Order: sequence, then structure tokens, then C-alpha cells
Amino acid sequence: MAALRYAGLDDTDSEDELPPGWEQRTTKDGWVYYANHTEEKTQWEHPKTGKRKRIAGDLPYGWEQETDENGQVFFVDHINKRTTYLDPRLAFTVDDNPTKPTSRQRYDSSTTAMEILQGRDFTGQVVVVTGANSGIGFETAKSFALHGAHVILACRNMTRANEAVSRILGEWHKAKVEAMTLDLALLRSVQHFAQAFKAKNVSLHVLVCNAGAFALPWSLTKDGLETTFQVNHLGHFYLVQLLQDVLCRSAPARVVVVSSESHRFTDINDSSGKPDFSRLSPSKNDYWAMLAYNRSKLCNILFSNELHRRLSPRGVTSNAVHPGNMLYSSIHRNWWVYTLLFTLARPFTKSMCLLLT
Ligand SMILES: NC(=O)c1ccc[n+]([C@@H]2O[C@H](COP(=O)([O-])OP(=O)(O)OC[C@H]3O[C@@H](n4cnc5c(N)ncnc54)[C@H](OP(=O)(O)O)[C@@H]3O)[C@@H](O)[C@H]2O)c1
Repeated sequence: MAALRYAGLDDTDSEDELPPGWEQRTTKDGWVYYANHTEEKTQWEHPKTGKRKRIAGDLPYGWEQETDENGQVFFVDHINKRTTYLDPRLAFTVDDNPTKPTSRQRYDSSTTAMEILQGRDFTGQVVVVTGANSGIGFETAKSFALHGAHVILACRNMTRANEAVSRILGEWHKAKVEAMTLDLALLRSVQHFAQAFKAKNVSLHVLVCNAGAFALPWSLTKDGLETTFQVNHLGHFYLVQLLQDVLCRSAPARVVVVSSESHRFTDINDSSGKPDFSRLSPSKNDYWAMLAYNRSKLCNILFSNELHRRLSPRGVTSNAVHPGNMLYSSIHRNWWVYTLLFTLARPFTKSMCLLLT
């Protein structure tokens, strides 16, 4: 445990002493893993105790975590002007899940996207995430990319998309990640995206329909539809339709539609209980931004359920997901009142890297 002494910390847990040839390391998000130099293998379980561990607490004062050009995490002690690849908190690890989780509750509200994918290898899998330059989409894209997937960030603004690509590459320079243009408010752009994607001649294993707009003032898209409806639902509906053949060829494949709990607070039926499709793309007089958002999210769920019914026999599943309430992303940006509400709620809601399964 020379390294711990080097880090200025004593070994506090002799039961954890590693057999010769083993070394303890940490991932960027705080998981401990073990490398065997003789057999050139790594594993999450301690070779003697079989326990999984993670780092507890913040870095000591004056320490900073950085990443080298090979994507490996290292630690700088600014006070003593030293650098080490060993996390100084390794002496204070805690057991991961000392009680065996039940299958119903493997994850909870503090589970990170990285934890959900922990131990999964997505090498060879192609993932498309819409609206991946920020918020939930960015964290989703990053987590897939850091677990080996070839990730395509489908975004309307290429400057923001390329910045997001750079941020992921900054975390791991070997990540296979690229940006492509997709503006869901323009059906022609959806068509172009599908054509450009097909021209790559790759499979499509996961399509995450994540992009969304909230609290927009009323406007029509160039296609003549209310913008929230087109961006949140119709654009994705069209995208899936255009990529359906690739998804089926790539089976097992899956579509994930990011919806919202708020779908419950609306209806698309009229007073006689029949679907009123004019409610989906209302005129300016009948428009209320919150209601338009809720309806688009209801459409997300109806769409996902029907897609699953139709495509699951062909190996393509579809699930709609509620990511959590009032996550502090940029979704609130269109009205200062929502910015204020999201800011007030921020200490009590999930941070962006915490996602539901
Ligand atoms: N945050 C929450 O509390 C919450 C709760 C329930 C559900 N959700 C859902 O989660 C999803 C992600 O939202 P978020 O919270 O991560 O918000 P966000 O940070 O604002 O992300 C939304 C993404 O959608 C993109 N987008 C908007 N209009 C687009 C268009 N016309 N074409 C293509 N992309 C477009 C945005 O791109 P630009 O950066 O270029 O605008 C951005 O990348 C949404 O579907 C939202 O409804 C969020």
C-alpha cells in the first residue's frame, strides 16, 4: 500500500490487502475495480473478499481529478505538487450494496446513468440519441459512449452538437461518437437525417427519442403544425417510421421514448369521449403551452405502446420513460417563471447525471 502512503493516507482496512500482482483503481465516477497485471484482466470484485466497492466522500482539500490523453483518470495534489494515478480516497471506500437488491428495486432515485450501464459492454452497438447536446440526452449519449457504443448525437444545432461530442471525447478520447443534423421541427430535416444515417450502412440497436421543447409560445412549424406537437411527438414518429426497416434488420433493437409524468394531466378525447385530433395541433386561440406539452407527452406514450405492439414480434421493443420531475436541464428556458420554479426545486430533484432506468 505504498501508493496510499504516497497519497498521504494509511491503509485502514487490512482485510482488503490485495494479493501480489493486483492493483486497485477507480473509474471517473468513483467505482473501484481491480487489475491483475499477470493475467492482464480487470474485474469489479475484490479478488479476496469478492466485494464491490466505491469511493466515499470528496477529494481531500487541494486535490483535483483530471484525465490524461489516454482517458485514464489521475489526481493532482496541488499543495504538495504531486501527481498520482491512485485515488487518495481509496482508503475510505464503502461496500457497494451490502444487502442484495431485490429485482424490483435495483435502482433508485440516486442511481446515475453510468451506474445503470456499469459492467455493460456496448462495443459494436449503434445508438442514436435525439437532442443529445444537452440535459438528459447528453448524459444518455455520454453513458452509452463511455461503455463502448457508437453514438450518434442527432441535434438541430451543429455547433452545440460538436461541443457535446468534444465533451464526451474529453472524458474518453477513444469514444466512438459523432454528431448529425436533425431538426424535428422540419419534416424534411427528419427525412435528410434518415437518408444520411442509412447511407452510413450501419445497424441501429438503440434509438432514444429524447429531444423535447417545453413552454413554447404558440408558433407553427414550416410544415404548418404547432411546434411543441411536432418536435416532441410527430417528428419522432416520422423518424421511427423512416428508420423502422433498419431497426428490424438490427434486431434485437429498442426504441426509448422520453415522455413525462405530466401526460396524466390531459386528454385528447372530446366531451363525448371520442379522440379530437384538432387538440394535437391547436390554433393560437386554443393554445396553452403546458397543455400542449402534456398532450405531446401523452402522444409519446400512446406511440411507444403501439410501436411495441407492432414491432416486438420482429425483435424491436419500445418503452416510454418518465425521467423524473423538474430535472434542472435547459427545458425551462422558454419562460422565466419556469426557470424560477426549476431553480427553486433544484436542491430537491435529481441532478442531470442521475437518470431512471
Ligand atoms: N427536465 C425535466 O424535468 C423533464 C421531465 C420530464 C420529461 N422530460 C423530457 O426529457 C427530454 C429531454 O429534456 P431535458 O430536460 O434534457 O431538456 P433540454 O436540456 O432542454 O434538452 C432538450 C433537447 O431537445 C433538443 N431540441 C429542442 N428542439 C429540437 C428540435 N426542433 N429538433 C431537434 N432537437 C431539438 C434541444 O436542442 P437545443 O439545445 O438545440 O435547443 C436539446 O438538446 C424531453 O423530451 C423532455 O420533455 C424532462
